[in-house]
Amino acid sequence: MVTYRLTILPGDGTGPEVIQEAEKLLDVIEAGSPLAFERTVIPCGGQYWLKTGEEWPKGSFEHCRDESDAILLGAIGWPGAELPNGDIAGGQVILGLRSGLDLFANVRPIKLYRGVRHKIHDKFTQVWSPDKVDMVVLRENTEGLYHSLLRRSANRLMNGKEAEDPVMEFDGISGEVAWDPRPISRAGSERLIRLGFDYAQRRDGAPKDGVSRVTCVDKSNVTRGCQLFRRVFNEIAEDFPHIAHEAAFIDAFTMWMIRNPEWFDIVVTTNMFGDIATDLGSVLQGGMGMAASGNIGDEHGLFEPVHGSSPKHAGKGVVNPIATLNSVQLMLEWLGMQCDDADALAAAEIVEQAISDQLLSAEELTYDLGGTASTSQVGDSIVARVRTLLVEHYS
Ligand code: IPM
Ligand code: MN
Repeated sequence: MVTYRLTILPGDGTGPEVIQEAEKLLDVIEAGSPLAFERTVIPCGGQYWLKTGEEWPKGSFEHCRDESDAILLGAIGWPGAELPNGDIAGGQVILGLRSGLDLFANVRPIKLYRGVRHKIHDKFTQVWSPDKVDMVVLRENTEGLYHSLLRRSANRLMNGKEAEDPVMEFDGISGEVAWDPRPISRAGSERLIRLGFDYAQRRDGAPKDGVSRVTCVDKSNVTRGCQLFRRVFNEIAEDFPHIAHEAAFIDAFTMWMIRNPEWFDIVVTTNMFGDIATDLGSVLQGGMGMAASGNIGDEHGLFEPVHGSSPKHAGKGVVNPIATLNSVQLMLEWLGMQCDDADALAAAEIVEQAISDQLLSAEELTYDLGGTASTSQVGDSIVARVRTLLVEHYS
């Protein structure tokens, strides 16, 4: 029997609601397989900050770093929970863990399951067919615009006082100026891009032609950081002659990704571009309720749905738990690979199968997929499928 130490961070708004379904899923896996999960639940986020004045209890970062095999996060962010410097309260939890645990790759699969319709123009339609959408975006996760330790320009009115800015002059720009540097390093780019080629080797290629293909998405016609990123991409591509590679500018890429998603297999990109492109990409997979992610490094992994805390739906029990259940699936797969654990890999496959069966049956779905079921009805139904599949697997 293998016991994994999991730290669970439910966070804000609908975060705790979807995490509750994740916990049911962990329970059923524990009951039906040799896996066990020793769980520590830590409160955090904007709502916690409003109550306590802290983003999470002292020692939480160290717990995530020193006493966890994997971390599962619900969502961070709450209206009105803003630090004096203007940043979101709770931001340190997610951005601090990404930087502090060196979670350099944000892995975001964009896959359209059979049976899922997309919502466009307020109608459920079937613009893309399921055999056309199956790519993985790897977003650089510790550098670029979102690095948590960046020396940004100071917020001018901290506590009502004019703050002192680190001096920075911009020719031709006058008056009040705010700025954020965007450092991109060779080493940071290299490890992310290399992981992209590794992923391409493990998959079956792009839906269109079965060709394993890595697409570098950047803005190297304008920014220096992207020029370095592109240069490193071209160098690394030479180490993988059997994998096709190409590059696209982010603006054109957003158009191609919607028009011809079947062309793409693996996409590697910088931090902010990956943030934006994956929200857009969620439309291809049926919405944010379907978008799962893994923040991974060499030693640590943090898994979370891409959707936020969704304040307007909080407390109603109506949001789609599948993005979170799929994030658990990514976590099991990652643990299985890291620890060479066949049971964790099998559990990951079973969760994937159960979700796919659930979506195909189209019986119980949440509102975002055109259904009327609640968060916990969908969770219960998927968990029941997992239970049955585990019995089959271990008998
Ligand atoms: C995401 C979120 C975060 C990000 C925010 C909350 C800092 O939008 O995970 O995509 O941009 O990285
Ligand atoms: Mn985002």
